[in-house]
Amino acid sequence: MLIRPRRNRVNEVIRSMVRETYLGPEQLIAPLFVIDGKNQNIPIHSMPGQSRLSIDLMIREARELFDHGIKTVALFPAINESLKTPDARESYNPDGLNARAISELKNAIPEMMIMGDVALDPYSSEGHDGLVNPKTGEILNDESVEILVKQALCEARAGVDIIGPSDMMDGRVNQIREALDDEGFKNTLIMSYSAKYASAYYGPFRDALDSAPKKGDKKTYQMDYANANEALREAALDEAEGADILMVKPGLPYLDVIYRLKQSFTLPIAAYNVSGEYAMVKAAVERGWLDNDKVIIETLTSFRRAGADIILTYFAKEAAQILNK
Ligand code: PBG
Repeated sequence: MLIRPRRNRVNEVIRSMVRETYLGPEQLIAPLFVIDGKNQNIPIHSMPGQSRLSIDLMIREARELFDHGIKTVALFPAINESLKTPDARESYNPDGLNARAISELKNAIPEMMIMGDVALDPYSSEGHDGLVNPKTGEILNDESVEILVKQALCEARAGVDIIGPSDMMDGRVNQIREALDDEGFKNTLIMSYSAKYASAYYGPFRDALDSAPKKGDKKTYQMDYANANEALREAALDEAEGADILMVKPGLPYLDVIYRLKQSFTLPIAAYNVSGEYAMVKAAVERGWLDNDKVIIETLTSFRRAGADIILTYFAKEAAQILNK
């Protein structure tokens, strides 16, 4: 036998020398859930190890992440039910939880990058990412974009570094980019949720924010998971509208979409390893069916191999601890 591929795997020295994919903490973004109050830590049952944290504890967690080499966090405010309205006006309240969380974190750790989510569902009494026509139930596009722009500006004024529009309304990246530039936020990045699918994997996230749609589903704005060409079309629009980074979400069941985007675009590609993907691993680990550390690193490496430059993941801290060992 002339050719023995096993020779290149004979020991860890050669294996690490020929390894094609690198995974490091600097590529990871940690999502954090924020609530009002002081010294509050409310665990999320469907996401073992993750909690809703009041701003003081969120800052403490962010500092720990930073020390582990995770230098970007994505904030998701879980706001009080009484503040949710059909017009989602709390989404751009400069004194609201979201804006306060951003500015207090920025003051506490100026070197940390903060990503702010742009979508109405945490603030909408309807639980939708856009405004709902009360008569027809239609999710209104252009009217929603106006609110999303206000939300993006509110986050930028509070000190956000990256705007993450997760709403899937048409044309929002362009409107947000123009509004940011008009106010002088020309260095505020946009990481667009370009290919965001209508997915059952968001279940635990909606538990965390209590943000599930009151009626219907999100299929008129989030994408059909049977489609891949449509992801390329959405990504091309976001690129043309000024996005700096294109995201695919969910992650693991969509590695093919990540790969296609990476092949077709020169912009950096991000993948969101979502709440349901986290829950599946943790549930199996709790039963002793999977090895936590090994599965985390294998999973995150698969995103990188598929072409993701950046990974948003609830495993960020654990992964950094494992990688730094
Ligand atoms: C909503 C939003 C969702 C997630 C991030 N932003 C849920 C949804 O679209 O219903 C899901 C993240 C996760 O599941 O981890 N704008």
